[in-house]
Amino acid sequence: MEIWHVRETKRLEGACFVQGSKNASLPILAACIIRPVRVELKNVPQLRDVDAALRILRHLGCLAEQRGNEVYIDSTGLTRSTIPHALMEEMRSSVIFMGALIARCGEAQLSLPGGCQLGKRPIDLHLSALRQMGAQIEEDRGEICCGSARLRGCRIALPFPSVGATENAMLAACAAEGETVIEGAAREPEILALQDFLCAMGASVSGAGSNTICISGMEKREALSWRIVPDRIVAATIACAAAATGGDVELRGIDPQQFSTVLYFLNQSGCDIIHGKRSVRLLSSGRLRAVGEVMTAPFPGFPTDAQPVLMAAMLKARGETRIIETIFENRYRQAPELCRLGADITVNGRVAEIWGVERLHGAALTATDLRGGAAMIIAGLCAEGETLVCDEGHITRGYEGLDRRLRALGADIFLEY
Ligand code: UD1
Repeated sequence: MEIWHVRETKRLEGACFVQGSKNASLPILAACIIRPVRVELKNVPQLRDVDAALRILRHLGCLAEQRGNEVYIDSTGLTRSTIPHALMEEMRSSVIFMGALIARCGEAQLSLPGGCQLGKRPIDLHLSALRQMGAQIEEDRGEICCGSARLRGCRIALPFPSVGATENAMLAACAAEGETVIEGAAREPEILALQDFLCAMGASVSGAGSNTICISGMEKREALSWRIVPDRIVAATIACAAAATGGDVELRGIDPQQFSTVLYFLNQSGCDIIHGKRSVRLLSSGRLRAVGEVMTAPFPGFPTDAQPVLMAAMLKARGETRIIETIFENRYRQAPELCRLGADITVNGRVAEIWGVERLHGAALTATDLRGGAAMIIAGLCAEGETLVCDEGHITRGYEGLDRRLRALGADIFLEY
């Protein structure tokens, strides 16, 4: 159990480098196995989810080691195509190994993935994409068995731009004969990051960032070195913390365009946003204004992952904020916990209404999931007295040294293990 001790902080102030992206790292770690290769990755965050991916790689027979923010993978010795349930259930992204294993071995046996409990998280789109490429897939009580003598390129039309299904299809398509075209693809920056990495591995991939991605095989590369892009959701989290505390914080090393919808709403709430090329400074003068309606949507819309942290920033804002969550059906699990601090939130299905209150007071909370846990920390920074966030490791699945980073900006926070 990890206990975050958070006390009211009047103003976050200073500059902060944003960690490498979790959601870019995980598919890239899986991509390292699509052919035998030695990869040096830089700027990889030290996180529980990254650790889980490295354990999967070692189980498969790869060399996989993290030293600080550098990761070394040698996938030449891969010997297995089976991932046991105990490794699969640690995170949702373990499912991306399915496309990568089929690409490398022509088969994969694994079970349904774990991860944050945000409602139903089916993988039907992943399976359908792989089947269209020629994979035979059997599912039996959560166990998945895939085989394919030969994958063939084809046209895949995704009915919803699922990030994971797009990644799985891209990975498998690298080993398919002929061209694969993914239509209705996810457009998230992490898809672009995966495309760039696959191209560096020798694959021909284009179109990421638009809704049509083309993949047409790959050439042999033996070794490469690659730098993971910064984490736009961590950037959004720190920006929301700065806004909520009346702060003045510069986020460095990030592309503000990648979380421009979050910055837009923080600007609407009364914060000044000063854009640099690879940085953004947020100045908040005190009590925020509620931002009206916010609807989550696939990129370039407002990210569902930033919804809980924006909710936390709005708890004391003047007026009403209405959030409509369209991606996950159960993504307000933080709301009842935030109400324990005195917040006024009403949840009705996919809609959450937040009425800004004058004061929040510290209380003991339980982190419900990764971003919900981060929201509780932001709320704790705005609550009188001490807030305890008890967490069974959700927050450290996605945030590297969040206590240290916030403390460097002046937050009164410490993490007890
Ligand atoms: C990824 C991110 C996660 C983010 C999410 C949406 C990683 C490791 N995780 O998750 O942080 O919250 O994108 O931006 O990158 N769906 C189906 N069938 C499928 C797949 C998805 O119905 O086969 C539905 C899901 O239930 C959900 C929606 O599509 O309602 C979005 O899921 P998806 O884009 O696939 O998210 P993930 O890849 O799981």
